[in-house]
Amino acid sequence: MNIPFNRPNLTGKELVYITEAINNGLISGDGKFTERCHSFLEEQLGVAKAFLTTSCTHALEMAAILLNFEAGDEVIVPSFTFVSTANAFVLHNATPVFVDIREDTLNMDESKLEERITPHTKAIVPVHYAGIGCEMDTIGEIAARHDIPVVEDNAHGLFAKYKGKFLGTFGCMAAQSFHETKNFTCGEGGALFINDPQYIERAEIIREKGTNRSRFFRGQVDKYTWVDLGSSYLPSDMLAGFLYAQLEAKNHIQEHRRRIWHYYNTHLQDWAEKNGVKLPTIPEHCEQPYHMFYMIMPSYQDRQAMIAHLKSRGILAVFHYLPLHLSDMGIRLGGKESNCPVTEDISDRLIRLPFYNDLTELEQESVVEGIFNFYSS
Ligand SMILES: Cc1ncc(COP(=O)(O)O)c(C=O)c1O
Repeated sequence: MNIPFNRPNLTGKELVYITEAINNGLISGDGKFTERCHSFLEEQLGVAKAFLTTSCTHALEMAAILLNFEAGDEVIVPSFTFVSTANAFVLHNATPVFVDIREDTLNMDESKLEERITPHTKAIVPVHYAGIGCEMDTIGEIAARHDIPVVEDNAHGLFAKYKGKFLGTFGCMAAQSFHETKNFTCGEGGALFINDPQYIERAEIIREKGTNRSRFFRGQVDKYTWVDLGSSYLPSDMLAGFLYAQLEAKNHIQEHRRRIWHYYNTHLQDWAEKNGVKLPTIPEHCEQPYHMFYMIMPSYQDRQAMIAHLKSRGILAVFHYLPLHLSDMGIRLGGKESNCPVTEDISDRLIRLPFYNDLTELEQESVVEGIFNFYSS
């Protein structure tokens, strides 16, 4: 592809920090760069504790272990999300209950949340799609009234805000992704943010294979041993070095992505209106992270034809989530057509445009020109 959907890029110091990690003589987990990432995220966002993990999927799994699901317990998730939002909890005993999304932001429809709550509901997991905040006031109020913990899947939304407050700071916990398609990356990576301090001590153990090794390294115990469930959820300090270089360049990265997003939005506005195409809705009370630019085409056929049309011009635009309740696994868990009609409809019509940190204006011009030629070609 001349213009890929995503392209990794170096902001400057990634290779310097990887080399430094090697020279420090510590390339396993929890070295100097991991510590720097933790402090950076905690200070910038005001979360009680940030733990780097090997992926957002693993951060969600840690959250699932921390919440002690037992057979029959349920977790409410949107159907319009990545597999991991549900799978991480199913792996740890939960049954997913799918809720539909809003037509405007494509986020969990908070007006349909309460009807999904049962005496077995053990967690609610809103996903901030494209980093646009879910209606956290309403979701938080419903969750508090039923005494159900909220875990935010904030894979897309680092540094975005809802009503002036950072995403990732609303739930008792939140999961972040540093996968290569995200604004800030180390290839594969993630983080678990903990806002409710009661979970911190156990999270540290779960992340270190179920051992109290972190306490041993701090000199708090004289040997370490198996104390709880856990797995290997901490990334190498080389990856943390790569990530820290990207976090350090936060303002530069976000400013560039802001320009990319507005270029698409401004140039496609009239065309979209004329052709019945919908562009993203950003509510006034949400500050977005400029993670993604999508269009909702008038039909599935138009969406597929647009993908093929752009591909023929060397441009890779892609669809996104398939409804989880209609996946093979979702059907085995009882999912049926029409359970989440908005999800089913949007999933058929949504297309994401190339969006990466060093996407140039010339490349964007080609994408926009390709789109303009679609209905006339
Ligand atoms: C909403 C959501 N949650 C979780 C994930 C999983 O992230 P990771 O690849 O870091 O495990 C993704 C992947 O992009 C995602 O879109």
